Amino acid sequence: MEYGGRKTLVPKPSLLFLQITIIILLSNQSLILNATVITKCHFPAIFNFGDSNSDTGGLSAAFGQPSPPNGDTFFHRPAGRYSDGRLLIDFIARRLGLPYLSAYLDALGSNFTQGANFATGGSTIRPQNTTRHQSGLSPFSLNVQSYQFNDFRLRTRIIRKADGVFKELLPKTESFSQGLYTFDIGQNDLTGGLFLNLSIDQVKASVPDILGQFKTVVKDVHDNGGGRSFWIHNTGPIGCLPYVMVHLPIRAVQMDKNGCARPFNELARFFNRQLKKLVGQLREELPEAAITYVDIYKARYTLISQASKYGFRQPLRACCGHGGKYNYNTHVGCGGKVKNKGKEILVGKSCEDPSVMIIWDGIHYTEAANKWVFDRIVNGSFSDPPVSLQMACRMK
Ligand SMILES: *[C@@H]1O[C@H](CO)[C@@H](O)[C@H](O)[C@H]1NC(C)=O
Ligand SMILES: *[C@@H]1O[C@H](CO)[C@@H](O)[C@H](O)[C@H]1NC(C)=O
Ligand SMILES: *[C@@H]1O[C@H](CO)[C@@H](O)[C@H](O)[C@H]1NC(C)=O
Ligand SMILES: *[C@@H]1O[C@H](CO)[C@@H](O)[C@H](O)[C@H]1NC(C)=O
Repeated sequence: MEYGGRKTLVPKPSLLFLQITIIILLSNQSLILNATVITKCHFPAIFNFGDSNSDTGGLSAAFGQPSPPNGDTFFHRPAGRYSDGRLLIDFIARRLGLPYLSAYLDALGSNFTQGANFATGGSTIRPQNTTRHQSGLSPFSLNVQSYQFNDFRLRTRIIRKADGVFKELLPKTESFSQGLYTFDIGQNDLTGGLFLNLSIDQVKASVPDILGQFKTVVKDVHDNGGGRSFWIHNTGPIGCLPYVMVHLPIRAVQMDKNGCARPFNELARFFNRQLKKLVGQLREELPEAAITYVDIYKARYTLISQASKYGFRQPLRACCGHGGKYNYNTHVGCGGKVKNKGKEILVGKSCEDPSVMIIWDGIHYTEAANKWVFDRIVNGSFSDPPVSLQMACRMK
């Protein structure tokens, strides 16, 4: 025995004091730890559904990486994201102590132990009747993302039963019930309709069908996937985005005092009101689920309308783009090439400092804007109910 030869030591008074102090310190710490365990949720994984606002490599796995300078600020290379850096979902994952999410579609270097991302740029809630070539919309609409999630979950169980290297790259069974399910989708259903020349009233009339399909997926994740914690982003102020304002010009009187197109923002708010109502219905129908509705619209619009107060400049102007009032051209986007006097030049970063810009490429936001919005939404002050991200497993 290791201690066999030792004499029992009677502690000297000073040692005794030291021991007592240590015990008190330790018990204090365990009290703090216990308190943390009681209040904060344990999310071993995130499963995300959405469009380019939360795509961490899905569309690029199918159609190729976004061109440089996408990814420049943080990853220093294109990283499957339509931004100079990180997205809201990246900040969410890090805050929960989880790695950046691998895209379900990405076969290369992915690790799904702590979740999977089903979002792709251009995704809509409803399946579309156009190809990506025609409309820019993704073939991976929310129903497809839901098929992919179900396949992922069922095959994870089979693969984890068989031993082998892949077992180590997939979530544990309990991660599906304990995970956080995040949704950020709907923007392209609205803009997609407008770009197909539907009137605003026609797009509004399609909202019940759009949200009906959204509800089907959330219920499926709950009933078949075992999901209990949901974090649902509403849609942002599309009327402040250059790609909408350039594509769908409106009369000057329809601009608001911040230079955003009021009718399109009203459409986004109409959608959001219906979405919020739906979340209320879902809470009644799924009483054991915690569903948090996050007002991304309000957070983004606050930033755009008070940009200078928060240290940002030129709130409606794209950082990476080319030409026009908003530094945005419908035909040549960020990372594309334009001919100038016979010479090809890259459409790159034309703002000096992306960390003070809000709009990245006319469609998406900069890392700085995403971080600002994340800092506002993380503590629950833009949420219904007003619970923080780390409490999003708790019901009202
Ligand atoms: C996958 O991720 C898990 C958890 O984040 C980590 O422990 C593991 O080492 C990773 N596996 C590989 C092969 O990188
Ligand atoms: C696609 O076409 C089908 C059949 O006509 C229709 O029911 C559906 O609403 C259309 N989808 C969209 C997004 O317009
Ligand atoms: C929408 O209308 C514009 C102007 O009338 C037209 O140029 C364009 O081709 C139409 N787009 C679609 C998808 O029908
Ligand atoms: C949440 O954070 C924001 C920004 O840091 C702060 O202004 C706000 O007061 C906070 N709200 C709560 C409820 O803590």
